Amino acid sequence: MNDKSLRNVYPISWITESSEFMEFIERHQSTSEDDLLVADFASGEYDRVPTYFTRELPNVIKSSTKARRFVAYCTDIHSLRLDSLYRKLEEEGSLSQVRVVQAALETMDISAKLVSENFDYVSNNPDIVNWLDDLLIGKQCFPPECFDIGILNNDVIGYMHEYYTEYSNAEKGLQKVYKLIRNDGLLIVTMPCLQYKIDNISVLEKIGFTYLGGLDITPSTGEKTILEKNVPLDVLSNLGHYTFFIFVKA
Ligand SMILES: C[S@@+](CC[C@H](N)C(=O)[O-])C[C@H]1O[C@@H](n2cnc3c(N)ncnc32)[C@H](O)[C@@H]1O
Repeated sequence: MNDKSLRNVYPISWITESSEFMEFIERHQSTSEDDLLVADFASGEYDRVPTYFTRELPNVIKSSTKARRFVAYCTDIHSLRLDSLYRKLEEEGSLSQVRVVQAALETMDISAKLVSENFDYVSNNPDIVNWLDDLLIGKQCFPPECFDIGILNNDVIGYMHEYYTEYSNAEKGLQKVYKLIRNDGLLIVTMPCLQYKIDNISVLEKIGFTYLGGLDITPSTGEKTILEKNVPLDVLSNLGHYTFFIFVKA
């Protein structure tokens, strides 16, 4: 896939424009022996994030030690959305490196369950099972510090504060996101303020994350604007732009 198609099919691919992100990935690939474990928190039925991380991102890594796999865990509270996501991933042939897990953000440290078809698939393919799969299947929860990278794609923080308030507790959910990311791991937040103007940076810094930086991209020209910590909310995720923030659990 050429660069232009890649950006169209996978908007998340703009993340490689971030030097902080690329340094993190290269460091992991050259120093760790483990799979790189990614969580797409509140994934809904959107398959582009796990597919990008498991299929396309490995192709842009320079490090010679490409043996490490990327494995993506998609979590959501909503079983119908997860069923739909599972179907897409199955059709794409992504199941060896993607897991679909029913879990509420607020309680995923005590309750998280592979959807039943995914459980069957993993059970029938023991060669793909890693330490986190073992734990998830055995204990039906995610342990602390299990993910290298967490993703909140597409204004999840805004939705949690404004739209899903009846059955979600944004602060508690984000505390659990923090708990599940390892020390020095990253949290990627895309399209902040797309629908709801919530100050993502101050919300996440209150939880304990440290802001590393962000970019606003005009996809048609590739123009990049660095987003400082004091960026006004009004300039975020404007129509036709791709915007993201990166935080570290320091
Ligand atoms: C904006 S939508 C999907 C965003 C998705 N990441 C994307 O890129 O399209 C938000 C998702 O959050 C899920 N959600 C809302 N509250 C949740 C919670 N407390 N725990 C887990 N998932 C939640 C909803 O079921 C929904 O699928």
